[in-house]
Amino acid sequence: MIILGIESSCDETSAAVVRNGRELLSDIIATQIDIHKAYGGVVPEIASRKHVEAIIPVIEQALKEANVTKDDIDAIGVTYGPGLVGALLVGLSAGKALAYAWRKPLVGVHHIEGHISAAFLENKDLEPPFLCLVVSGGHSHIIECRDYGDFKILGRTEDDAAGEAFDKTSRVLGLGYPGGPAIDKHAKLGNPDAIHFPRVHMGDTLNFSFSGVKTAVLNYVNKAQMTHAEINTDDVCASFQKAVTDILTENTMKAARQTGFKKIVLAGGVAANSALRASLKKACDKNGFKLYYPSPVLCTDNGAMIASAAFYAAQKGRFSGTDLNAYANLSIEGLNG
Ligand code: KG4
Ligand code: ZN
Repeated sequence: MIILGIESSCDETSAAVVRNGRELLSDIIATQIDIHKAYGGVVPEIASRKHVEAIIPVIEQALKEANVTKDDIDAIGVTYGPGLVGALLVGLSAGKALAYAWRKPLVGVHHIEGHISAAFLENKDLEPPFLCLVVSGGHSHIIECRDYGDFKILGRTEDDAAGEAFDKTSRVLGLGYPGGPAIDKHAKLGNPDAIHFPRVHMGDTLNFSFSGVKTAVLNYVNKAQMTHAEINTDDVCASFQKAVTDILTENTMKAARQTGFKKIVLAGGVAANSALRASLKKACDKNGFKLYYPSPVLCTDNGAMIASAAFYAAQKGRFSGTDLNAYANLSIEGLNG
């Protein structure tokens, strides 16, 4: 089964062709980062307009690179939430229009389900059940993946998402948008033990809170500026990153011990973070867990992860009608009905 996957929930317009949920035939990603950089973050209205410009060329390129035509496509998978509603509507409208014109089944995909499915593209042996840490610009979740499309949230952020904390901290340090890659780069040159930023534990739960560490960096920078003390940006980045990765690793290990899962999947844009990958790998090796994480390009938003998720949704008979709408908020629980 060959699926065309379409993603437009935030600032990447992407289309990909994937065979049987695992074999990547093409993955075209048109990023808008350079446009939003000037504003220090994603401007929803601009994102929608840029998606409109990019969507058709991106889809055409995905088919061309995969060396397929519309006749080879068996279904169209498209993100319908959560995300920026105006941005989502562009990809969704394109997906619905193609499904109608080409007479192909349509599969609505949950964005986070997509992120988790990115791991299937490079790990052919990976099958549910497993535990998953999903960390992106909008989400930080520890999820039990019981089967394809069958998820239970075990822990979540109570305020900022991990990626949001990276982006806001980067802004405080004047490193621009998106913050994750900038902080990751500076952190490599700094000392992670130079400054102690707080690690917040939410009692017995598996929940997270990242607003405290973000504020601690802001206070540190303000204090340094008031006293004309020099700020070592590399050290601040490394210390902030360590505080975030420590708590993500700790809670994920705690969840694995509580649930008994031996397989752990790391997903979402923040999964591209080199320190988080290293920290989770070390903890998993120590505890005898197997860790899976996608290549960095498949961690951030892309159409291939949507096509992979759509394949498994189709296997479960989860098709959508052309009345499918876009949703800014959408639960990942209960997708299989
Ligand atoms: O998954 P994604 O592309 O979009 C959402 O669904 O939100 O994630 C984007 C987020 C941004 O907050 C970005 O700063 C973060 O992922 N990110 C990173 C890295 N690369 C991207 N965070 C930390 N380290 C990175 N290397
Ligand atoms: Zn995403």
